[in-house]
Formats: sequence, C-alpha cells, structure tokens
Amino acid sequence: MARETWLITGASAGLGALFAERTAAAGHDVILVARRADRLEALAARIAATGATASVIACDLGAAGAVAELMRGIAARGLVVDTLINNAGFGVRGAFAQSDGAAQTAMIDLNCRALVELAHAVLPRMVRMRRGGILNIASTAAFQPGPGMAVYYATKAFVLSFSEALHEEVRASGVRVTALCPGPTRTEFADIAGMGASPFFEKNAADPETVVRDGMSALARARAIKVSGAMNAAVAGSVGLLPRALTRRVSARVQKMLAG
Ligand SMILES: NC(=O)c1ccc[n+]([C@@H]2O[C@H](COP(=O)([O-])OP(=O)(O)OC[C@H]3O[C@@H](n4cnc5c(N)ncnc54)[C@H](OP(=O)(O)O)[C@@H]3O)[C@@H](O)[C@H]2O)c1
Repeated sequence: MARETWLITGASAGLGALFAERTAAAGHDVILVARRADRLEALAARIAATGATASVIACDLGAAGAVAELMRGIAARGLVVDTLINNAGFGVRGAFAQSDGAAQTAMIDLNCRALVELAHAVLPRMVRMRRGGILNIASTAAFQPGPGMAVYYATKAFVLSFSEALHEEVRASGVRVTALCPGPTRTEFADIAGMGASPFFEKNAADPETVVRDGMSALARARAIKVSGAMNAAVAGSVGLLPRALTRRVSARVQKMLAG
C-alpha cells in the first residue's frame, strides 16, 4: 500500500482525533487541523512516536478565507492531500427564534461552507490522478428535519445531499466520496451542543471507535453512505416511508429527549 497524506479537520477532539490515530496506524501521514493548537501538537507527538508524520495547522475553518489560507499552508510545506476527512463541525440546540443568530450562521460556515471549500480545493487533483477520497461527516440528523436544532439538522442534510451528488459525479474516475452518518456518539459534541447531561443521549450514544471504524471501512469500500449502527440505519431507512408531518413531530420529541 502506497503511503498517502490525509487531511483531517476537527482533529483536536472526538472523532477527528481518532480518525487521525487510525489513519496513522494504517500507515499514512496526516495533516491535523482545528483551532486548539496545543491539542493538535500533543496528538501529533503521539502519532510521530508511531513513525508516521503529523503536520499541525491550527486555524478557525469557520472564518472567511480560512480554507484558502490552509491550502496555501499545506502547499508551502510541500504536502499534497490524497484523502480528506471533512469532520470539523458543531451543533447548537434551542428554539431558532430565541437563538443567537451569529451562532446559527457560524454553524453553516463550518459545517457547510468550509466543507465545500475543502472538497473543491482537493477534488480536481484527485480526479486528474484517478485516485483519492473524501469522507464527509454528516449525521443521522441528515435524514429528517430537527425542530429544536433546526439549522444543525439542515446543515447535515446539506452534507448528505452534497456528498451523494459528488459520489455520483466522480465515481467513474475511481475517486471515492462517502458520507458517514453517525447517531449520538460520546465525544465533546453533546456538551458543546448543550445536551451533555441528557440520560437519553448517554443511553443511546455510540463509542467513537465504532463510528470511526465504520467510516474508514465505508470509504475504503467506496460506499456512498454509511449510517453507523444497526438501529440508526433502520431508523434512517424507515424515515422516507413515513408521512413528513409525522416524521417532523417524532423528530421534535426525540430531539427533546436527547436534550434532556
Ligand atoms: N458526537 C455526535 O453525537 C455526532 C453525531 C453525528 C455527527 N457528528 C459530527 O461528527 C463530527 C465530529 O464531531 P465530534 O462528535 O467529534 O465533536 P467534538 O468532539 O466536539 O469535535 C469537534 C471538532 O471540530 C473542531 N472544530 C470546531 N469548530 C471548529 C472551527 N471553527 N475550525 C476548525 N475546527 C473546529 C473542534 O476543534 P477546536 O475546538 O479545537 O477547533 C474539534 O476538533 C461533526 O461534524 C459532528 O457534527 C457528531
């Protein structure tokens, strides 16, 4: 297997940090991106001890121009991205009308705009070379509207739709594009989204190891979509069969239970 360079966003915590460790363990070099440089440096040191090369580029991907700046930083280090894991993201819980508007648009900036800009920056070379891949982290939230977390669910519906379309556009070239859809997972996500103490979240949350394994395997097998977890897959598969009015009401109740 040829040694590749994988760009992993949101690598300072949760799924991103684990993706980075698993990628290095599989024999690849990694570029680690997030805002918290100290955490990225600590992870890079752990990865370097295994023999892989880990480059750290700390940046706020939600900021305008951040992706262009990041790509310049990658080129300046003489690196080329073979595989991208578009993982950085966050959620905001609460009724939209009473919410902080800036936090809502910041979510769109990170979960959607930065993800698209990164894909656009790396995909042309992958298609030219007829190899490489992009793993976009969506969510089971992508399959239905989410009253109580309306913008977050909508960002993940965007990620799923965008990923499926890209998958179809490039699959004949041999480039893989996969959307990974985790359900609730034990990371820092729930605390940041304001639902960390919910017993329903805790009871239903998956281990990040399982989610990362599912994502790596789905990308390797060029799957368009991977819903992590049998129950999550069953629910995601049945959503389209129900009347939309019922789906959004059930979703609102589940969202309340997740929030505690
Ligand atoms: N955990 C779940 O229940 C769950 C379920 C479904 C989908 N997901 C998705 O999985 C992905 C990973 O989330 P996680 O669960 O691992 O959450 P997490 O533990 O909170 O990690 C989020 C990562 O994103 C980074 N990040 C946040 N804002 C950023 C910004 N402006 N610029 C650059 N990096 C930023 C964070 O690093 P810094 O703070 O250092 O920037 C951190 O490394 C997200 O897309 C999330 O929507 C999570």
